Amino acid sequence: MEILKLRSDEHDAWLTLRELLWPGSTREELTREQAEIIADSQRNCVFVAAAEDGLVGFVEVSLRDWAEGCSSRPVGYIEAWYVDHAHRRRGIGRQLFEAAEAWALSRGCTEMGSDAEFGNEVSQQAHRALGYAEVLRIVLFSKRLDESVLGSKVGNRAS
Ligand SMILES: CC(C)(COP(=O)(O)OP(=O)(O)OC[C@H]1O[C@@H](n2cnc3c(N)ncnc32)[C@H](O)[C@@H]1OP(=O)(O)O)[C@@H](O)C(=O)NCCC(=O)NCCS
Repeated sequence: MEILKLRSDEHDAWLTLRELLWPGSTREELTREQAEIIADSQRNCVFVAAAEDGLVGFVEVSLRDWAEGCSSRPVGYIEAWYVDHAHRRRGIGRQLFEAAEAWALSRGCTEMGSDAEFGNEVSQQAHRALGYAEVLRIVLFSKRLDESVLGSKVGNRAS
């Protein structure tokens, strides 16, 4: 098993792993994201764990302008992290993180940011084991907009 930069002939295998990480996303959504990641190689990098019979894990790392809990800019950010079920608890996730961190360092970063869903205890424990400190818990909201908001009253201020 080797940790390597994603090759252009591995996009389908990468997609297969992304579908396992995000079963609620459509293939189209995931493919579009992949195209965006690949289009900006200055700000994004993907490392894969390659076994003899194919890919068994990946990490997506980016440069973000800022991240909660980080004081330097830009920061390296773990955007996605996945190891195939059958290959977990063997240090592959750690090696992927180390590759992502080395890439960020090589891009001038001195800090990394990352996140994990509230209920994802494994990811939270793994982050802590890899030296990441929790900095914030956050609840995200969204609302679909419709034309009813157009009736809202916004006064004109004399300039
Ligand atoms: C999170 C994930 C990538 C870890 O991959 P992995 O290859 O099993 O990780 P490693 O074997 O390198 O373990 C790294 C550290 O995490 C900790 N860890 C990993 N799995 C753990 C578990 N199930 N319970 C507790 N700690 C765990 C270990 O302490 C380990 O450190 P150690 O080897 O020094 O003890 C993997 O569990 C996964 O793909 N999970 C599903 C997807 C996911 O949740 N991704 C993260 C989204 S934020």
